[in-house]
Amino acid sequence: MTQPISYLQHWDRTEPFDPPEVLHKLTRTRPLTRMEYPDGHIGWLATSHDLAREVLSSQAFSHRFHTTHAPVTKKGELFPSVPIVPGGFIHMDPPDHTRYRNLLSSEFGTRVMEAYAPRITELAAAQLAELRQKGSPVDLLPHYIRPLSLHVLCDVLGVPFVGSSILAALTDGANDDETSLEDERAAGTQAFLYLLDLVRTARVTPGENIIGRLAAVQDLTDREITNMLLIVFAAGFASCEGALASSLLALLHHRDQLDAVRTAAETGGAKGVEGAVEELLRYTTVNQFQIFRTALADVELGGELIREGDTVTVALPAANRDPGKFACPDRLDVSQDASGHLAFGYGVHACVGQRLGRLVLAEALSTLLLELPGLALDVPVEKVPVRLRTPVLGLLRLPVRY
Ligand code: HEM
Repeated sequence: MTQPISYLQHWDRTEPFDPPEVLHKLTRTRPLTRMEYPDGHIGWLATSHDLAREVLSSQAFSHRFHTTHAPVTKKGELFPSVPIVPGGFIHMDPPDHTRYRNLLSSEFGTRVMEAYAPRITELAAAQLAELRQKGSPVDLLPHYIRPLSLHVLCDVLGVPFVGSSILAALTDGANDDETSLEDERAAGTQAFLYLLDLVRTARVTPGENIIGRLAAVQDLTDREITNMLLIVFAAGFASCEGALASSLLALLHHRDQLDAVRTAAETGGAKGVEGAVEELLRYTTVNQFQIFRTALADVELGGELIREGDTVTVALPAANRDPGKFACPDRLDVSQDASGHLAFGYGVHACVGQRLGRLVLAEALSTLLLELPGLALDVPVEKVPVRLRTPVLGLLRLPVRY
């Protein structure tokens, strides 16, 4: 057996958007390789597009928490094994997963989201008006990217915006190296209680929003609905904020691409930049770590025998740079056909909010580029603090002038 590589807790990058050199090399030479997990388990790491799709779409692989060797805390410790909470569908397999997932898929489907798009335009315009009041230079993270992502998510779910900071603390802790597991849990409890209260109110007076419609489903308990909402918020907010921040930085760093996106927005508005959004999603692939599955039985994969109980980590950033799939994998080229990228994952757990995520990116980018023609970085690109070591790639600040 080839020597397993060590578990990559943090995939250190030399360039903010390029996957670490080791992954780049593995995709091209050994796309399925053995990897030693923190508990000593010798599992696997998959780095090619084909293998990523195969693992994520195969029923032979489970996403259940207790089957895995992968989840480690930010400090590299194994997560204490926790039972799956009622409604915690993200770590369930079909058919348990399917019941919850179907309820959400209908809420985030293409037609529903298209009808919601004008509201995103409105929210982006309002955020831009606030940004202008700050003048130039300004930090786009607290004055555009974060509030817009929060606003959209709260609005779509039916959470009053005043409660957004309670919910944001949930993902902020998980994405901050300094926050202890205890503090993360405390933030989780606070967010849970806050949402539980909204669910209980909605049982009596349901609003025309997701909380209201879930509250009308009689065979879901309050706890199930609350946990579903927590998952949607946590998964949606960190990824949406991270993807918008990373896309903006990538464009500000590649001025020719920014000009191309602006031209597309001038002719087609948010619709006109949808192709560019796909390429930005592929190029930045913000869900960088913690995508893993565990084999439920012996299964063949990429010519290797994966034994029952083996955990396979899927490196989405590497799969999205696979030269076998994309014409210029390592270059940001918004004219490239990026369809088939895996930035939203694949298979039954593929992102349920992907249509919303795409719309937010398209609206937020086109509004900003059309309204602020002089938009430029206010510091050299290497001075922009990038959150490289967290499961979702993101920024701490994005100083610009316009
Ligand atoms: C552009 C932004 C986004 C990106 C890049 C993104 C990425 C992802 C990825 C890679 C997964 C799969 C994880 C896995 O297989 O282990 C996922 C799942 C998920 N995402 Fe997103 N996401 C984004 C926006 C959103 C939004 C806006 C929402 C909610 C409104 C959302 C809610 C979810 C949920 C609930 C799941 C779990 C689905 C399941 O397990 O069935 N995401 N996302």
